[in-house]
Amino acid sequence: MTSETLLTGRVLVYTGSPFEGDPAGAARLDEAVLIRDGRVVRTGTARALRSEAPQAKTEDMGDALITAGFVDAHAHYPQTAMIASWGKRLIDWLNTYTFPEEMRFADPAYAAEIAGRYLDLTLSNGTTTVASYCTIHPESVEAFFTAARSRGLRAAAGKTCMNRNAPDGLCDTAQSAYDDSKALLERWHGTGRLSYIVTPRFSPTSTPDQLSALGALWSEHPDCLMQTHLSEQPDEVDWVKSLFPEARDYLDTYEAHGLLGARGLYGHAIYLEPRERDRLREVGAALIHCPTSNTFIGSGLFNMALAKSEGQRVGLATDTGGGSSFSMLRTMAAAYEIGQLSGTALHPAQLYWLATAGSADAMHMGDRIGNIAPGMEADLIALDLASTPAIAQRVASADDLWEALFPTIMMGDDRAVKVVWINGHRAHG
Ligand code: GUN
Ligand code: ZN
Repeated sequence: MTSETLLTGRVLVYTGSPFEGDPAGAARLDEAVLIRDGRVVRTGTARALRSEAPQAKTEDMGDALITAGFVDAHAHYPQTAMIASWGKRLIDWLNTYTFPEEMRFADPAYAAEIAGRYLDLTLSNGTTTVASYCTIHPESVEAFFTAARSRGLRAAAGKTCMNRNAPDGLCDTAQSAYDDSKALLERWHGTGRLSYIVTPRFSPTSTPDQLSALGALWSEHPDCLMQTHLSEQPDEVDWVKSLFPEARDYLDTYEAHGLLGARGLYGHAIYLEPRERDRLREVGAALIHCPTSNTFIGSGLFNMALAKSEGQRVGLATDTGGGSSFSMLRTMAAAYEIGQLSGTALHPAQLYWLATAGSADAMHMGDRIGNIAPGMEADLIALDLASTPAIAQRVASADDLWEALFPTIMMGDDRAVKVVWINGHRAHG
């Protein structure tokens, strides 16, 4: 039996990229969206869609803004319980807080508990797709995909591979990383809405052998994504240079081992040299901006204006729990502030696009998620643009959509997320 739902409210539809031309002109508002069997049929006037589908169940969202759900292009679900850990920079933060917590994921029950907790938190924040790192334990991948599948989510994740510069309990080998990743990939990739991501953590924690093994796995499965970290902090960049004296630069440690490609997601990418910028753009790889992490761990300022002017593919992400939030609204606010510190005020249309269509495009899923258009999967949210007294009093004097949305971007959180639909079904609110 077909199921039809008609959502009415203010439906935000991107018609192009807000980084090309007038940002405000890259989107329009429609009155309604018609959903059939989990997919968007079309948007339009409430009247036209009601006469097209008179049997559809109507859900009236009033003044709420109906948009695509958020797409978080880089997160570490195993870092849920240690988010907001005080006082360290990247390498110390990994050794002090992150690695001890990740050790706990050898226990499948703990992995299942945190995977469920993480996905409930992100869903209530309006995130409907995430690209997550797991831990070195295959059990942590099983737990994550199982929890995502039971919620009907589109999700992507992979076993984090490391075989040096980490505690013994968190090290695999070049061969076991390949074997375990391959087995998980074959088991999960393309089942339902799930996809596998080849995941070397970053060059300092993999030997050249391990990077090569994972490069080989990726080349055997070129439709998979690959995710890693790149040039996040100056100390880390120096360390990579000392570990790989023959490499031209940090990116070369990946490139030389088959780990550079269009389906690569490179987290942070703050301190890039000109050759690295050129190569990333040439291959169409994605730079993933993680602004709350970059301020929280003290990494530095990602230059969005430069990246977009060069024509780089860019996604936006929380980087939970180096990032200090589960919310893509808080993440947009941090991206705005980092933009200001780098001399560019990102337009609300650009911020919102990065958190939806931009991240979906980075994950090569822009034809399925990240916008509201015919045939796309109906992973949607309804945002209350007056969710707190502070936001409501500012919105009262807003003259247009973007001025009405910006206070929620800057001050909003999960209280703004009224309803979340996954595949056309209410999953929250
Ligand atoms: N670099 C290597 N691993 C990590 C991680 O878990 N978080 C962040 N922010 N950077 C990393
Ligand atoms: Zn990360």
